[in-house]
Amino acid sequence: MLPEEAKAIAGYQLHHFNELVDVFDRLQPLEVMARLWEIVASAELHPGAVVLDVGTGAGVLIPLIQSYQPSTVLACDVAEKMLQRVHDKYPAVRTCHADIVSLALASTSIDAIFMNGMYGNIADKPAACGNAARMLRSGGRLVVSHPEGRAFVDQLRATSDLFIESLPTKEAFEALLEPLGLGVIAYRDEPKLYLTVAQKS
Ligand SMILES: C[S@@+](CC[C@H](N)C(=O)[O-])C[C@H]1O[C@@H](n2cnc3c(N)ncnc32)[C@H](O)[C@@H]1O
Repeated sequence: MLPEEAKAIAGYQLHHFNELVDVFDRLQPLEVMARLWEIVASAELHPGAVVLDVGTGAGVLIPLIQSYQPSTVLACDVAEKMLQRVHDKYPAVRTCHADIVSLALASTSIDAIFMNGMYGNIADKPAACGNAARMLRSGGRLVVSHPEGRAFVDQLRATSDLFIESLPTKEAFEALLEPLGLGVIAYRDEPKLYLTVAQKS
């Protein structure tokens, strides 16, 4: 995909997601919350960790991340209304209005990066993962997840105007991430949970 095409898609996404703040700012059913806790646990956060939540939306992961006592939580999104909601609810979180592809945090400064329920929305996945790999410290983890699983994403693809791609197979993720120095250490593709964890060497 050409960089201009990826930019155009990100612009389209931000326009739409700005209108969806209340849709994403809802209490999740208990079984979904249980899977979100599993997703956050997979990063094995330690107290004092620096954590980045990419495509944070209304911040569904933030209180779960905060329960691990990180030193810093950064929330990135292309949609400024999502970030405003996160700021209002969690003032300690540092919000970053950016596409993950161009988010300019320091290299090797982050312990864990979450991309929950948003990986399919990223237009330029190689550039996004490359930037994530650059920002991660050695031993840091990239967690790509969806708490409703692959079939849910594919159904959204068929019914929504948003840019959404299917979630990658393990082989496709390995082919993308290994050249970036990220080894896939866990992969779960279950009816109601998609979870890939990659660790930087
Ligand atoms: C489906 S929502 C999911 C929000 C949240 N992570 C959750 O699990 O509820 C996807 C979010 O990703 C954001 N997003 C989409 N593409 C992005 C990109 N390239 N960089 C940063 N954020 C992006 C959208 O604006 C939207 O807020």
